[in-house]
Amino acid sequence: MLLKIVLEIIYKENQRKDMPFRHNASFIMSKYIIKGGKPLAGDVIINGAKNAALGIVAAAIMSDDMVTIENLPDVWDINVLLDAIKEMGAIVDRVDRHTVKIVGSMCSSAVDNENMRKMRGSYYLLGALLGKYKRAQVPLPGGCNIGSRPVEQHIKGFKQLGAKVEITYGGILSAEAESLKGSHIFFDIVSVGATINVMLAATLSSGVTILENVAKEPHIVDVANFLNSMGANIKGAGTDVIKIRGVEKLHGSTYSIIPDQIEAGTFMLAAAATRGDVLIKNVIPKHMEAISAKLSEIGAEVIENDDSIRVVATERLSSAQIKTFAYPGFPTDMQPQMTTLLALSNGTSTVTENIFDNRFKYVDELTRMGASIKVEGNVAIITGVEQLTGATICSPDLRAGAALVMAGLVAKDFSVVEQVEYIERGYEEFEVKLRSLGAEIEKVPDDVDEITYIKKMRLKSIS
Ligand code: EPZ
Repeated sequence: MLLKIVLEIIYKENQRKDMPFRHNASFIMSKYIIKGGKPLAGDVIINGAKNAALGIVAAAIMSDDMVTIENLPDVWDINVLLDAIKEMGAIVDRVDRHTVKIVGSMCSSAVDNENMRKMRGSYYLLGALLGKYKRAQVPLPGGCNIGSRPVEQHIKGFKQLGAKVEITYGGILSAEAESLKGSHIFFDIVSVGATINVMLAATLSSGVTILENVAKEPHIVDVANFLNSMGANIKGAGTDVIKIRGVEKLHGSTYSIIPDQIEAGTFMLAAAATRGDVLIKNVIPKHMEAISAKLSEIGAEVIENDDSIRVVATERLSSAQIKTFAYPGFPTDMQPQMTTLLALSNGTSTVTENIFDNRFKYVDELTRMGASIKVEGNVAIITGVEQLTGATICSPDLRAGAALVMAGLVAKDFSVVEQVEYIERGYEEFEVKLRSLGAEIEKVPDDVDEITYIKKMRLKSIS
């Protein structure tokens, strides 16, 4: 009873004060202006993993007790998901940029936040709400435009647990069940989203669920560990088979999110591309193995410590053959950054994209900077060039945007990277961290005249 009174007070207090998030719900159209040629040097601290945080924030509302999440990345996708669960009735107390307290006891089972259609991770609310309330209505997800992104594997899993699932008017995914019963589910495709989503629903089903042909990414393990910290009974996350023994309810927890493998990998490659010397801190080296191995193979020096990795590159790097695969293979989310690095390497490289069917859109932008890349189907054939030249380029999606910034950092003269709001969906203070490593990069609103701004930057760098 006392907790309920306390919660009511926090709830009223929260409803009164504006959500202290840094973002607002609409994308703020901005661009980066970059002066290329500076090697990155120094230390950078990696934030919590966005793709783990999305599943964990969704899972938090499955308990009626208070959940404290630490090492939360302060990025658009996470902040919008927190807004959405607040609108659904959850108590959301943002203690600081990287810590949030959530109480999901008063959460409704329907989401109607418009931004849910702009991001991918919103669909985790479906698994969480279906598990908890045995009914859920969530808009079909959006997400980066990197190819077709169907959700039939999610629907297959929910149906095998006993739910009726349909897509109703307005692109709403609606699921409901008298009760959810454990089942043996073999995914036709290895899917990060489907693995997490069905794991969420199965956690509060009756009986035992076996998931096979599952994704094994670090963020899958992190979500499973979080659920287990709330009293779930999940074994085998990170292997080919996950076994979930359903429980009646989940209790509160305090949990810290793992470091972001892709943010860490992006800074590792940016260090190598600029022939710099960077210590990437707050990482789990095991998660970085595919990236570290490739960097060493092409001639960068990669020094692994307990929770940091140092990357040094002084010479021009060599070519390589890259194939993206589900974890522990080379991550598709590092494909644009690796292609950019190989665009400057010595020799001919190939990058084969095996996960998504349209993830080379950014290559046209690199070509405008002087890169020599030919895309045939799902293979990019790269002839390394000595130098790229600055240009005005446009981010087509989150990771490609980060890759284009990398290109700007190494190109001769100035580059302007537009639509950086895509980058801010998954990278916290990207330009601030790069500037702290010596990069000459400024973020300006879209309507700023870049020629005038570049003149100012030229004067500043001469003085
Ligand atoms: C997650 O997307 C990540 N997003 C993506 O990261 C990442 O690229 C992807 O996993 C692969 O690692 C989040 O976690 C929010 P999938 P997801 O289901 O879950 C097909 C980033 O940069 N598929 O593993 O949508 C699908 O079309 C983002 O942070 C089906 O056919 O990826 C794709 O070809 C970009 N049917 C492949 O499987 C389904 O039902 C892998 O997709 C589900 C997926």
